[in-house]
Amino acid sequence: MRLLHLSDLHLSRYGESGTWTNSDGEDDRWETLQSWQRWRIEGLRDRKGRPDKLRLVDPEGLVHKVKSWPAKKEDKVIGVLLARAMKRHQTSTERLIEDRPPPEELAAMLRVDPGNTNLRFLHVVDDVLALQPGLILLTGDLTDNGFGYALVRHYFAPWIAAHRLFAVPGNHDTYDMFPRFGRAARAAFKSDGYRDFAEAIGLEANAAGAYVRRVEDIAVVGLNSCKMPKTPFSASGAVTREQLVWLREIGHDAAFAGARLRIALVHHHLLRMPLEVGKRSPLEMGMRLRNAAEVMEVCTAAHLDFVFHGHRHHGYLVQLPEHPTVVAAPSSTLGCKSTGRSYGWLMDLDEPRPFPLVHRLHTLPPVYGDGA
Ligand SMILES: [Fe+2]
Ligand SMILES: [Fe+2]
Repeated sequence: MRLLHLSDLHLSRYGESGTWTNSDGEDDRWETLQSWQRWRIEGLRDRKGRPDKLRLVDPEGLVHKVKSWPAKKEDKVIGVLLARAMKRHQTSTERLIEDRPPPEELAAMLRVDPGNTNLRFLHVVDDVLALQPGLILLTGDLTDNGFGYALVRHYFAPWIAAHRLFAVPGNHDTYDMFPRFGRAARAAFKSDGYRDFAEAIGLEANAAGAYVRRVEDIAVVGLNSCKMPKTPFSASGAVTREQLVWLREIGHDAAFAGARLRIALVHHHLLRMPLEVGKRSPLEMGMRLRNAAEVMEVCTAAHLDFVFHGHRHHGYLVQLPEHPTVVAAPSSTLGCKSTGRSYGWLMDLDEPRPFPLVHRLHTLPPVYGDGA
């Protein structure tokens, strides 16, 4: 049985990056002028009843574009909004599930939108299907902004049904960095979304906020490092004290200690990457696991063999004697910031001493360039 470690898919509604707001979606003064595939182009009149604004609203009520509503060029503006709706729909999770584009079409779509994570994910799916790993690990940032879990559930359904897919949340799944009004409310909404996903795939956390599962003679621990920092513009995290107390205890549990291999998943990184390695220096500011030293100490005390993480979009492996081996996967969709390549880690669990090896994924043109 082989284990495949993937990370940081950054899926979203349309494969785009960013946070959508739905501030005035409920205003009933907007009238629907045209609709297509549950998208709406709506118009708003001023107090005197004259055309004032046009906007494009997606099937979930999110406003994508607002334009002025000029009487003379109305058709042209509506055409522009309609074209935008059609482009968005092509890469929506809904469309990519119901009607997966055939290879030629996918290639053309990627030429138009090369950084689209939903489209790039379809190539990752092909890699996984070809490889047929026994276990899949996803170490957080499954989504860019809390949407897109449907793609994971759909395309990895056989692994989910067999309880062979393990995931932990990332900062993008649970909070954003922006100090705008409502950050806490957005974080609560996103965390609920992740929790619903985790429960649906059988990975509900215990009271401490973590989980442990057994797959044959392997123990898999999922730690949640997504404790939102108070500082704005920070994507840092921390593993809560409750989880560390729990992990220390299961470290003494006979069934856990008796497992042939003990692995943990966490999103944030336990060790800093050397700044000199790779062509893009990994920025540490605002990224770190705030209690990394303590987490490493507890993981060591719990006799974990491996800790898999993501977050940095840099891949590396650090083997410290008498400590868990730390394995970092880059973004499986966007690639590695150090090398521009896309790869995961593959480990043959049937080996007497399993060890992860780099496994090259798709060869799409790198989003991060060639590291420049
Ligand atoms: Fe990420
Ligand atoms: Fe992250």
